[in-house]
Amino acid sequence: MNLYDRIPNNVNLSEDKKLQRALEKWLPNYLDWWREMGPEGFQEKDVWLRTAVDVGSEGWAHFDYVKMPDYRWGIFLEPPQPDAKVGFGDNYGRPAYQEVPGEFRNALRRIIVTQGDTEPASVEQQRQLGKTCPSLYDLRNLFQVNVEEGRHLWAMVYLLHGYFGRDGRDEAAELLERRSGNPDKPRILEAFNQPCDDWLNFFAFTMFTDRDGKYQLSALAESGFEPLARTCQFMLTEEAHHMFVGDTGLGRVCRRTAQLMKEGDVRELGGIPLEIIQKYINFWFSYSLDLFGGEISSNSADFFAAGLKGRYKERDQYTDHLATNENFTMTIVEDGELKTREVPLRNALNEVLRGEYVKDCEKGLARWNKVLAEEGASERLYLPHPRFHRHVGEFAGHTFDLKGNLISPEEFERRKSEWLPTMEDREYVRSLMHPVFEVGKIANWIAPPAAGIKGKPFDYEYVRL
Ligand SMILES: [Fe+2]
Ligand SMILES: [Fe+2]
Repeated sequence: MNLYDRIPNNVNLSEDKKLQRALEKWLPNYLDWWREMGPEGFQEKDVWLRTAVDVGSEGWAHFDYVKMPDYRWGIFLEPPQPDAKVGFGDNYGRPAYQEVPGEFRNALRRIIVTQGDTEPASVEQQRQLGKTCPSLYDLRNLFQVNVEEGRHLWAMVYLLHGYFGRDGRDEAAELLERRSGNPDKPRILEAFNQPCDDWLNFFAFTMFTDRDGKYQLSALAESGFEPLARTCQFMLTEEAHHMFVGDTGLGRVCRRTAQLMKEGDVRELGGIPLEIIQKYINFWFSYSLDLFGGEISSNSADFFAAGLKGRYKERDQYTDHLATNENFTMTIVEDGELKTREVPLRNALNEVLRGEYVKDCEKGLARWNKVLAEEGASERLYLPHPRFHRHVGEFAGHTFDLKGNLISPEEFERRKSEWLPTMEDREYVRSLMHPVFEVGKIANWIAPPAAGIKGKPFDYEYVRL
């Protein structure tokens, strides 16, 4: 097999023998990991997948039946911009970094490893879901998300191998050694150690946690380290589909629930009550907010100063790319009370990015509430306050209700079963998860999608079982 068939790429891999050898050594380890930790029970099945064979409009969305281990995991970067410049921070306007600047080496490696770790983690979290898919359409979407997360791992490993030498190779090896939820060698970020073992979890995860990915990648897509920027730009095109799966998936669950509400008791009719959907939203939204890091952060200031990680749409949304003179007003907990404090803007950039994310999530809630209205339900879903149920940052270690009011830990304990999924809720949802493998059929707890994939109907044989 020639190199391009083994490792499709647009980075001239054949001309960089050292990198080629490193990646060829990593490839069998990656495939071992995929076989061990990728989707269980479907590795030999033909799945109608989108495969990137190039970054151009023709090449990046090529659809065909593929067995997942034969998926063409490739390395694709957006084409370079002539005269690329550092777009923000202390080196604003200087030529973009084509190599890793020595003084930022550790920070940059940490950014890439943290992003890279999330990609295989989500595949691990989702590996059992195929066995309980609500339809072949959903099964295909799950696998599409999984193979693309695998490719995103390739994208980050390319940077580690290509730009960080020996310690990059070590980090790339460790990305295949950590395991989601494993107490001895867990994944780096907590949301990626939470079980994602039913489809309501999956849809909430792809809605809220993949959407964190969109904001992290967007901030890195304008990085002054050009290879990282070009890598993340291309990853974002794939990421859009993952969020679509979560957003429309939850919308379809809402639709079905509202339909069943008109017929009688949702539980008796085998649907998912709105209270349970709300609790899953509360759970995944709060864990995903933690992924943005502390509200007040010297790392965020350092990354921005270095020109490594900017704000969301830094180029288009802002005119002052130095952000040295502004303050940000932040709410914090002090002496058991909520108080406001002025923080230098550069130290508040995690919170600024989180704010963009919250706005985006609110749009999803509006779409689901529109579905509920269309089906004649008067109930509405909502986002909990960003202070609710946080494990990272200013609000970790304090307890809040859904509206963000500071409450005692005892009150939180007393009421948390109203706000977060209980064992019984999770067991009830799991009890509904029976596979539907027949072409064109769908589980009772979810409505069919408005359309199929890439012009195919819903009753297309998306996976050949
Ligand atoms: Fe990803
Ligand atoms: Fe994703």
